[in-house]
Amino acid sequence: MASGNSLSQRLLGKVALVTGGASGIGESIVRLFHKHGARVCIADIQDDIGQRLCNDLGGPHVSFSHCNVAIEDDVKRAVDHTVEKFGSLDIMVNNAGILGPIGANIRVFELSHFEQVFDVNVKGAFLGMKHAARIMVPAKKGSIISMCSISGIIGGIGSHAYTGSKHAVLGLTRSVACELGKHGVRVNCVSPYGVPTNMLFSHMPEERRTEEAKENVRRLNVSKANLSGVELTAEDVGNAVVFLASDEARYISGDNLVVDGGFSSTNNAFQLYK
Ligand SMILES: NC(=O)c1ccc[n+]([C@@H]2O[C@H](COP(=O)([O-])OP(=O)(O)OC[C@H]3O[C@@H](n4cnc5c(N)ncnc54)[C@H](O)[C@@H]3O)[C@@H](O)[C@H]2O)c1
Repeated sequence: MASGNSLSQRLLGKVALVTGGASGIGESIVRLFHKHGARVCIADIQDDIGQRLCNDLGGPHVSFSHCNVAIEDDVKRAVDHTVEKFGSLDIMVNNAGILGPIGANIRVFELSHFEQVFDVNVKGAFLGMKHAARIMVPAKKGSIISMCSISGIIGGIGSHAYTGSKHAVLGLTRSVACELGKHGVRVNCVSPYGVPTNMLFSHMPEERRTEEAKENVRRLNVSKANLSGVELTAEDVGNAVVFLASDEARYISGDNLVVDGGFSSTNNAFQLYK
């Protein structure tokens, strides 16, 4: 192994910041980073839940910073807090994201909803890259990982706003990888298929988010997948992020690690294979 770290401590000695780290996929990333020996700062708008995760993990290797990724001062403060607390920044995970309304009708799609989705998903990733680079470029090392989606490579899975925003995250990843490569900083993204987190139910009014409704969304997600016999979890996505963050991925940059069981690279419309 390139790092010489043991398999159980693949991020030993590294410092990470995870936006949207209080719940969902971000929480899994935080838990895995912690397990693999990293010191982690959770940046989120959900202060109580983020703080609770900190307390749950316990010890001096985890911290919380209130951060709305659409606000530059918040992102700057979260990055500075991480460096002050833990001494450096080796891994930046731009994970915070929202689905927004799921309607697909562009003739009535509200501009304000479009802007909300781009503010969090695109501006948030851009600001994360910008402020991480401020620390990583002088250090001549670092790994920036943004959460993209299969909606970043194909249409028809999310709304126009969500799909457009995730395509933009992929474009930003490639563009910034091009600039930061010469400074020794790697820039990648991860594109998962559906994971039944709160995000998948966020378009439903609170009163309709029953266990039965959630189970129906989960079943639909499984029924449309390409790979059977296994269901994508937040931890599967977290493991892909751990890999890109680790020294095992030290020559991988400008890449999009697709975690979708072949969903976006196969098309069974002709049903040739039984
Ligand atoms: N769940 C899926 O099926 C799926 C699939 C592909 C990609 N993704 C992407 O993965 C990422 C995480 O999604 P998730 O499913 O865990 O969602 P989630 O809603 O379960 O969790 C998102 C987290 O981000 C935080 N957040 C939201 N807006 C924020 C903001 N403005 N600033 C800071 N934090 C904010 C939330 O408080 C929450 O803790 C997103 O970028 C999403 O687009 C999710």
